[in-house]
Amino acid sequence: MCGIVGYIGDKNAQSFLISGLKRLEYRGYDSAGIATLSEKGKATLIRAKGKIANLEEKVAKNKRSDTTGIGHTRWATHGEPSEKNAHPHKAGSIYLVHNGIIENYKAIKEHLKDHEFKSDTDTEVLAALINSFYSDGKHSLADAVVQALKLAKGTYGIAVISENNPDEIIVARSGSPLVIGVGNGETLIASDASALVGHTKNAIYLKDGEIARVTKDSIEVKTLNSEPVSAKVEEIETNLAAIQKGGYDHFLLKEIMEQPDSLAETLRGRIDAKNGTVTLGGPGLSESELRRISHLVIVGCGTAYYAGVLAGYYIEQFTPGITIEPVIASEYRYKQSYLPENSLALIVSQSGETADTLACLREIKKQGIKTIGIVNAIGSTIAREVDGGTYVHVGPEISVASTKAFTSQVIAMVMFGITMAQAKGVKNTILRPYINEIAKLPTEIKKVLDGSADQIKKITKKYTKYEHGIYLGRDVAYPTAMEGALKMKEISYLDANAYAFGELKHGPLALVDDRFFEVAILPKGHLYDKAISNVQEVLARGGHMVVFTNEDSFDLPVENVVKITTQLEIFAPILMNILSQLFAYNMAVAKGNNVDQPRNLAKSVTVE
Ligand code: F6R
Repeated sequence: MCGIVGYIGDKNAQSFLISGLKRLEYRGYDSAGIATLSEKGKATLIRAKGKIANLEEKVAKNKRSDTTGIGHTRWATHGEPSEKNAHPHKAGSIYLVHNGIIENYKAIKEHLKDHEFKSDTDTEVLAALINSFYSDGKHSLADAVVQALKLAKGTYGIAVISENNPDEIIVARSGSPLVIGVGNGETLIASDASALVGHTKNAIYLKDGEIARVTKDSIEVKTLNSEPVSAKVEEIETNLAAIQKGGYDHFLLKEIMEQPDSLAETLRGRIDAKNGTVTLGGPGLSESELRRISHLVIVGCGTAYYAGVLAGYYIEQFTPGITIEPVIASEYRYKQSYLPENSLALIVSQSGETADTLACLREIKKQGIKTIGIVNAIGSTIAREVDGGTYVHVGPEISVASTKAFTSQVIAMVMFGITMAQAKGVKNTILRPYINEIAKLPTEIKKVLDGSADQIKKITKKYTKYEHGIYLGRDVAYPTAMEGALKMKEISYLDANAYAFGELKHGPLALVDDRFFEVAILPKGHLYDKAISNVQEVLARGGHMVVFTNEDSFDLPVENVVKITTQLEIFAPILMNILSQLFAYNMAVAKGNNVDQPRNLAKSVTVE
């Protein structure tokens, strides 16, 4: 979603802002802009609809040697994508960039009758409100921002500059991340630490309710109530290689191919196949706390939700007496439901910033239920607010569509389930097969990528003519099918949906015709024969089916079958999901889509 960058120092602000915005492109946006100040405070505002390349073209025609500035990529919420709605927004002498939503902007606007608004955005209203305090000459810029934020309701990460003082930037956050990069004679601002990589390794992650006044060599953090905060300087863990394509055509392909390594990072130091143990330090729950858990609610959105559904199927298999409730965060946050005593919540989020997931976390905490994060982004809001957590450690996921995070989220949750089952006294003979397979998974993923990537590429070509896809599976293959369909729809724009095989006769079978193709996820196992009957029902009605299976004897006359040879049985669906990822990727490439930044979508969904 929207991205913020800022610079104050001795170097050229325009060039940092443009390169920083490019780093944030992956989050999804529809317009961009920068505002810079000369030493004397002369402002240059440049904005453009569409890609950063459009902005860059305009900047090339209006080069400045300014050394202070702020920039933004906008993902439209209030007002269409256009130059006038792009940030920074100007009011009087101030310029503002804003991530989030000001919910009471209409009420504020009514009070600002004298201001002539030029855009349709809530952000311009906030800019005008700040200016209404600042322009009275009685408030410093920081004080004016505090006064305005005390009146604003909603979420924000903001950066503000004024023509009156080119030596400072004011930043603040509530519900939308902001990182301050601590440089040598320069200070950098970003909504995502990846924009700072290569410039500094040290950063302050602002907390909700904090505001900072930064100059090129000082950072002063306070609460909105003016209490000083001694902010911790932390190390940025991301490196340059992790945020570059590394020879791949797309980040998505790089991230799919990275999965043997990214999963190995998730497992590092946590799984001991030799002794059959799993050790997770992060959750910080005692044996007796783990033993008492009888209800596990798993919260997430999109792919993170499907990871929760799949992990839930596994955890149920080896944990007697547990109830597992995977929930969609946007639904759950407004549900009037009370969790039973002895509940625990797993909060699943790659970005750690998803607004709905964060809201659920806060609601659940209000009920006195412990929360454990299954998060990727280190230092993100969810990671900070949960009671304990297990980072998945897959490194930056740049492509909007989530791939490597899904695989690691599922396994991190299953590992958590194993530690819980161990504490509950579940026999090692039951848990051992899971532990053994998890330990082998990175190697098995590599075998699948090496062995099947070309075949999937060839097969995909035959399916570009269809308009719709139906993904089918039973048991653990059902959430796998759901995730496969999501990946297909979000990057190829094909209408793809998933159904539990057993549901076919209850409706979806009516869809089967020449406009549809079907993808069957067919792992070996106790429901294999039942799923085979379902495959036959589809074939009997002229279905155009691709089968992903690890059953060597599969011989039904489907149009295409991808057989994987693997030592795994329990986690074979994870391997089949990787086939689905490749299928969706190749489809998106064949259709000429923007694979890494699919239309209308954003990487980190920080608004409701
Ligand atoms: C799909 C996808 C989204 C995210 C969802 C949650 O490929 O990426 O469905 O999974 O927006 O995001 P996080 O995990 O950051 O909370």
